[in-house]
Amino acid sequence: MASFGLLACGLVSGLCVFFALILKWNDMRYRRKGLPPGTMGWPVFGETIEFLRYGPDFMKRRRARYGSFFQTHILGSPTVISMDPKLNRFILMNESKGLVPGYPQSTLDVLGATNIAAVHGSAHKYLRGSLLSLVGSSVIKDDLLMKVDKSMRSFTANWEEKTIDIQEKTEEMAFVVALDQILGQDQSNLVKKNFKRSFDKLVAGVLSLPINIPGTIYHKGIQGRKEVMKFLKQLVDSRRASPKVRSDILGDLMNQDGKYRLTDLQIYEQVVTILYSGYETVSTTTMMALKYLYDHPRALLEIRKEHHAIRKRKNEYDPIDWDDYKSMRITRAVIFETSRLATVVNGVLRKTMEDIDLDGFIIPKGWRIYVYTREINYDLFLYPDPFTFNPWRWLEDKKLESHDYCFLFGGGTRLCPGKELGIVKIAIFLHYFLTKYSWEEVGGEEILKFPRVEAPKGLHIKVSKFLN
Ligand code: HEM
Repeated sequence: MASFGLLACGLVSGLCVFFALILKWNDMRYRRKGLPPGTMGWPVFGETIEFLRYGPDFMKRRRARYGSFFQTHILGSPTVISMDPKLNRFILMNESKGLVPGYPQSTLDVLGATNIAAVHGSAHKYLRGSLLSLVGSSVIKDDLLMKVDKSMRSFTANWEEKTIDIQEKTEEMAFVVALDQILGQDQSNLVKKNFKRSFDKLVAGVLSLPINIPGTIYHKGIQGRKEVMKFLKQLVDSRRASPKVRSDILGDLMNQDGKYRLTDLQIYEQVVTILYSGYETVSTTTMMALKYLYDHPRALLEIRKEHHAIRKRKNEYDPIDWDDYKSMRITRAVIFETSRLATVVNGVLRKTMEDIDLDGFIIPKGWRIYVYTREINYDLFLYPDPFTFNPWRWLEDKKLESHDYCFLFGGGTRLCPGKELGIVKIAIFLHYFLTKYSWEEVGGEEILKFPRVEAPKGLHIKVSKFLN
């Protein structure tokens, strides 16, 4: 028996040495002078499994060992992770030095080659200009706000005495309200069910292993993309065949004059960009805002007061106008605090176009840089008592929204062009929900915070009519 024990010990030790050698060999493969410290994990998989499993703790442990700028290998690529606020800002501000978006192949394949995240330089400037002309602040004020109001009012109708999954509802809201603006409510109503089904397939494939065989998520994403493109082509063709001029985002994209004349593919992919970028971000922030408000009665009381005061000075069916929106101070603070505390966006990805010197380290061409901004949201110096939901901090310090290290909506040349539109949608949703309803959580369901914020079993609430 003892000899079996010795044999087992020998085998285990042998395997340990073997695996240690593989890890060492993999580190050596990437070793170069000037790289930041860190480890590369296993061949092919790198440290992806630990990264996905431990998430923020993986980052914190590596930071404790190597500092705020370290190398690893995650999601199929050698990557440098930057957790340093100053360096993060530098990276986001310096796309022209060759620090361009570094989203995975699946993202580019599914969202398309003319998607804004796939282009840089003058092509990026052009698409961004076109997008801002469709969703920028002046368009919101003159046109979109009214449309968002109309969609949101009908979307939130008749929820009383129902138990709903608010995660599902906010997801549907983010999609439907965006589609209403893009196609107009009449066309959106006709196609939204089938369109959403195809679009959800597309979304699933955006972050996936690019293996295009039936059964893979990537394959599903590519199928979803094909269906969405077909839908959009049919819509564009039928609009071209009709003399009617339509006043919606698709109509504007088709009729953009000299300044932004887009090809058909660019038009389809701009639509996908608008739908995709404002989907999970808007829906998750809305769900988490309701969650935090439920858990913090003082904040709920104050935000309700704000919305009832707005309703009081209007007739029942008057829409929210720009002045009403601008008066929603605590609402805006709740949205920012929610986005910070829940960390709806963990960070953004860049890649190097050539070898580049960052803080004295040389990052080789083609490496990814994960500008990881999550920890900045919990920085004690920026946000005292950082794990407490305290929307008032955004009112006490007006500069907090625009300080150098507030990356809730990204930064630099890629600062979110849909920032104001996203805030408007969440604010108008909260207006109608809070003035019409009260709610109680029924399931006590778990909410995961990493790699994305989600309630795996949904977040069920019982809705009743609000009684003053
Ligand atoms: C609460 C809502 C939102 C949040 C938290 C958010 C967050 C972000 C962040 C962090 C980025 C930077 C990505 C990067 O640097 O790689 C970004 C970019 C972007 N966002 Fe948003 N977003 C929101 C809503 C929207 C909406 C409603 C739209 C619809 C128009 C939109 C469209 C975009 C686009 C097109 C980009 C890429 C910009 C570029 O590459 O120049 N976002 N967003």
